[in-house]
Amino acid sequence: MHWTNRTFGPSVGLVAVLTAPSRAVPRKRASSVGLKLVMAASGLLLVLFLFAHMAGNLKIFVGAASFDHYAHWLRDIGTPLLPRTWYLWLQRVGLTAAVVAHIASAAVLARRARAARPVRYAHRPKVQGSYAARTMRWGGVIILLFVVFHVLDLTTGTLNPVGDAQHPHANVVADFAPSRWYVTLFYTLAIVAVGFHLRHGIFSALRTFGQQSPRGEHRARAIALVLSVVLVVGYLSVPFAVLSGLVS
Ligand code: HEM
Repeated sequence: MHWTNRTFGPSVGLVAVLTAPSRAVPRKRASSVGLKLVMAASGLLLVLFLFAHMAGNLKIFVGAASFDHYAHWLRDIGTPLLPRTWYLWLQRVGLTAAVVAHIASAAVLARRARAARPVRYAHRPKVQGSYAARTMRWGGVIILLFVVFHVLDLTTGTLNPVGDAQHPHANVVADFAPSRWYVTLFYTLAIVAVGFHLRHGIFSALRTFGQQSPRGEHRARAIALVLSVVLVVGYLSVPFAVLSGLVS
């Protein structure tokens, strides 16, 4: 009998294409080192924002007027060279681009790492991935969900009990009132997730770009831990200061 593609319909041809080794289809791919550079550069930008934002938040300990003044000043950065709020919008576009680049390069690198593992059987066992890789992925998802909630809470004021753009201090105090303990709990979980994410991310970036000796690894681990702890403590100090009545 003469077997043709017609005998089984088009699905056989499709199966042959899908199961063919990927090497058979030469494609231009970004180098993995290049992707790691994109991850590190976008991650660095996000870390810089996180430290600047934390420093700004700590102004709440100076007083309501100082905190509100700082929030208004954010809108004036770049003036008179730029019209008012332009810098803020440029920063928003830059941060969004950094988040997209960070997630896209992470996804491609993770797929490559999975594909590089030897697979002996046609029936491929479920790939578990390392503990760090799994927490990075889910940590990233929690952080992303948190940022969406956070922007609706303290930037647009949509989910905030006060939601007054002119008085961000009042928004923050209303947010972390004892009766809204679940908001503080969510912030705490998200900030701890940021801490874990950063600890692994900073460590990986330092290892990839230099610190590869055993001493370097030790140093990278210590730097990553210290920076993450500073950030977590700095951020958490605000909701807990409100919760305890220190800031009102
Ligand atoms: C308890 C901790 C935090 C407090 C009290 C806080 C407070 C604030 C406030 C008051 C604003 C509005 C600023 C304004 O428009 O005047 C804001 C905006 C923002 N926060 Fe936070 N924040 C906290 C943690 C975080 C964390 C952990 C992240 C990131 C993972 C983050 C990311 C942002 C972003 C992306 C914006 C929007 C900035 C913009 O309008 O372009 N914040 N935050």
